[in-house]
Amino acid sequence: MEIIIAPTYEEMSQISAQFIAREIKRKHDLVLGLATGDTPIGTYKELARLHNEEGLDFSKITTFNLDEYIGLPPLNKNSYNYFMQDNLFKYINVNQANVYVPQGNTEDPEEFCEWYEAQIKRVGGIDLQILGIGGDGHIGFNEPGSSFASRTRVKALERQTIEDNARFFDREEDVPRFAITMGVGTIIESKKILLIANGAKKARIVAEFIEGPVTCQITATALQLHTHATVILDETAASKLKRKVYYNWVRNNKHIIQKMVGR
Ligand code: PGA
Repeated sequence: MEIIIAPTYEEMSQISAQFIAREIKRKHDLVLGLATGDTPIGTYKELARLHNEEGLDFSKITTFNLDEYIGLPPLNKNSYNYFMQDNLFKYINVNQANVYVPQGNTEDPEEFCEWYEAQIKRVGGIDLQILGIGGDGHIGFNEPGSSFASRTRVKALERQTIEDNARFFDREEDVPRFAITMGVGTIIESKKILLIANGAKKARIVAEFIEGPVTCQITATALQLHTHATVILDETAASKLKRKVYYNWVRNNKHIIQKMVGR
């Protein structure tokens, strides 16, 4: 994993948006996996700015979101469908026909999950998957104990996730207890992965997922098995990493390494 530590949330967001923009410029019909939550909001704002001010073109991309609460229709303001429209899609020129977000109010979740996997396969897989990390180490809603082989499916949410996400709802009882989520297996098949995390409350889990043992008790550790995973952190989220000096050295000397391998 390449670890990039930015001084602030704003700079973390700029670096991650530039990363995504580079991939879109390289492949106009990029298949982009998207995440929700507080973490990517700054990245999405910066992508919208790159579209408005620098003409970054999203018209040919296809997007797949990681997850959605079961029971919330797309127009519910707490649904991830709504979040994506509100924080990104309405600001860019993405073709809505190429936007996939799991449907929380589907009548047959199991059939829907199979269909979702088939759509990812149909477009040739995800080129770049964006991820946040939950306080319990989850990616998507792959709570502790999720198999690294898991596919898109219905998952019961952990107590900690319900508490973490209660801030968006009027009452904790209103937080849905189930979600549809891409599986860990689905996520790690993506050709590239970019995980972003910020804030002191993520520092412990960030250190565990980057420098601790691989375990399905912290599903983000699956990224240690991936060949093209990048992690962008702000200083506070990086504060408990033991090998920070090394990560910074590698970043600052990347040009030397690239020269050596002829890239
Ligand atoms: P957050 O959520 O960005 O709101 O912290 C991250 C996650 O649960 O994956």
